[in-house]
Amino acid sequence: MQGENKFQITVKTSFGLENILAQELKDLGVTELEIGNRVVTFHGDKTLLYQCNLWLRTANRIVVPIRQFHIKNQDDLYHKVKNMLWEDIFDINQTFAIDSTVFSKLFNHTKYAAFKTKDAIVDRFRDKFGKRPDVSTDNPNIRINLHIDQNNQCTISLDASGDPLFKRGYRDSRSIAPIKEDLAAGLILLSGWDKKSTFLDLFCGSGTLLIEATMIAYNIAPNLKREEFGFFNWKNFDKDLFEKLKDEAIEQQIDFDKKIIGVDIDGRVMGMCRANIKAAGLTDKIELHKKDFQDFKAPFEKGVIVSNPPYGERIGEKVDDLYKAFGDTLKTQYSGWNAWIISSNEEALKNVGLKPSQKIKLFNGSLECKLMKYEMYQGTKKIHKLQND
Ligand SMILES: C[S@@+](CC[C@H](N)C(=O)[O-])C[C@H]1O[C@@H](n2cnc3c(N)ncnc32)[C@H](O)[C@@H]1O
Repeated sequence: MQGENKFQITVKTSFGLENILAQELKDLGVTELEIGNRVVTFHGDKTLLYQCNLWLRTANRIVVPIRQFHIKNQDDLYHKVKNMLWEDIFDINQTFAIDSTVFSKLFNHTKYAAFKTKDAIVDRFRDKFGKRPDVSTDNPNIRINLHIDQNNQCTISLDASGDPLFKRGYRDSRSIAPIKEDLAAGLILLSGWDKKSTFLDLFCGSGTLLIEATMIAYNIAPNLKREEFGFFNWKNFDKDLFEKLKDEAIEQQIDFDKKIIGVDIDGRVMGMCRANIKAAGLTDKIELHKKDFQDFKAPFEKGVIVSNPPYGERIGEKVDDLYKAFGDTLKTQYSGWNAWIISSNEEALKNVGLKPSQKIKLFNGSLECKLMKYEMYQGTKKIHKLQND
């Protein structure tokens, strides 16, 4: 595949994870890239496109823009879409769907622009073959993105991922209030964990942070277990290349000789956690304790804590005391550790009673959150500073 023509690749991510995603891309060998708002773009070949889907931990979707043009009116959109060589991209027997984002004044409704695009594609097939492909909104083979900006500039892209990339294929869908996989991986990468020390989640819930941390520590490609990607349905899909890249990914797994530990007070949630870890094939790599975090004895070997405690979102749920206890536990048991917690509850975070050394704004779904870093120095800060001088 080397030497194959390069094309633009657009990787979408969450607010606040753009630089982490850019670093992941550099690790994959991308040298020139552009960082935007929740997006990173660059040029690459099919090999890189497949690798991105397999390897990127903080991406939620990867699309390939296939055509850009300016439109003067609605019919212009129809004709320009109809002129595209859709039969080279997919087959008449495949289903498709259009996602649209429209800022242009030429369309009163975003949906109408999507309709025009769908009609143009259907009519092209019908004119050429006397038959048309079907639209499927639930589980289409081909997902097409239509973007029209306020200057009537259109971009038509193909969605290479299909289902969003946080769907790694290990999650039990019945889990409650889990953090998404791409955000979990983002928190761990933001923490700067050295991957040579203990990783601890004191509120592990269904285990998302533990599983993502384990895959990072062992250099396991996060989407190795996914059964489908959007590009599988493209006419130019190179199955041999994809299988080769998967085999290479398996060979890149490395060893990790420290501990990855999860603690949670709720036995039912712990059951889900165990099931998810098993589905991810990581059972022998993660240690679990069903305990109140205050009763868990800090591991002898120091490391990093990354946790997503309850936010107190549910009616009647009080978390102020929990956050205070968390701060007290850090102070008394975790000197020498770095602790990161994410929460949407700024009032409760004040109860931790420690001065954060970093605060990062992120979103957990629609909730605006802060990721706080607490550095638990051995002795006082002053002594620590003297030792480092
Ligand atoms: C927001 S959930 C964590 C979700 C997790 N990140 C995931 O992906 O599934 C918070 C978890 O904290 C646990 N928890 C609440 N109080 C606790 C305590 N005192 N000690 C340990 N775990 C506790 C709850 O059982 C719950 O599973």
